[in-house]
Amino acid sequence: AIERTFSIVKPDAVAKNVIGEIYTRFERAGLKIIASKMIHMSKEQAEGFYAEHKERPFFGALVEFMTSGPVMVQVLEGENAIAANREIMGATNPQEALRGTIRADYAVSVDENAAHGSDAPESAAREIAYFFSDEEICPRTR
Ligand code: CMP
Repeated sequence: AIERTFSIVKPDAVAKNVIGEIYTRFERAGLKIIASKMIHMSKEQAEGFYAEHKERPFFGALVEFMTSGPVMVQVLEGENAIAANREIMGATNPQEALRGTIRADYAVSVDENAAHGSDAPESAAREIAYFFSDEEICPRTR
């Protein structure tokens, strides 16, 4: 089915100047970018986005990292977009990510792992709405 998923190019990947290379991977995988913007998250914004990880030991470091520089946030649309995006990102830990995936190619640690992608339809809907208004989403008409 055609799905939407939410994606972040994280501060480490923006700093490495590989926004375009990562966008190309989305496009080559048949995922369409239907919303996109650069933001520098506030602490409150990052804490709210990652609220489900509040009790995890890495929460403080995660918020610190995600607010350390600008990120690109985007909505990707396509066939099985959620799984397709997770496949091209690779495993959360870049050391475990398959060759040729975004995390294997652009990241070295689980803390700074280049990209985020929603893991389920419910989180995709929540995460898209967290960063984008309906007017900012531009489905293709051709
Ligand atoms: P992300 O998909 O953005 O969601 C939560 C993030 O926490 C995850 O990617 C990782 O970058 C980061 N993180 C740091 N340590 C861990 C860990 N031990 N397990 C899972 N995620 C972690």
